[in-house]
Amino acid sequence: MNSEKSAQTFKITFVSGSTGDRQVVEAGRGTGESLLDIALGAGIEIDHACGGVCACSTCHIKLKDGSASCSESSEQEEDQLDKAPGVSAQSRLACQCIPSGSQDLVVEIPIWNRNRVREGH
Ligand code: FES
Repeated sequence: MNSEKSAQTFKITFVSGSTGDRQVVEAGRGTGESLLDIALGAGIEIDHACGGVCACSTCHIKLKDGSASCSESSEQEEDQLDKAPGVSAQSRLACQCIPSGSQDLVVEIPIWNRNRVREGH
């Protein structure tokens, strides 16, 4: 039944920062998967140059809603985020952000994530 299924899942709305397109993904609660894993599993591209080991900042996303249900960011994540462009209080690294599933999430994929960073030096 649907109600049984919805008790074990939650929704993540991925919003493209460039086009405003939204894609809703249903994810399992308490799987320990990161936002990056969930997005890639659903065919949503988020850059992940280091392969998800917190050694770059290309998987930078913004948590527009539901951040309270996500794992806290580590010092290492904060250090990497310091190098990312356009960082705000909502910024996280998708590979380090693990939602518990107690809340639905809205995740913005910043425009620069898809186009790589081109800083005007
Ligand atoms: S993929 Fe490199 S920090 Fe997330």
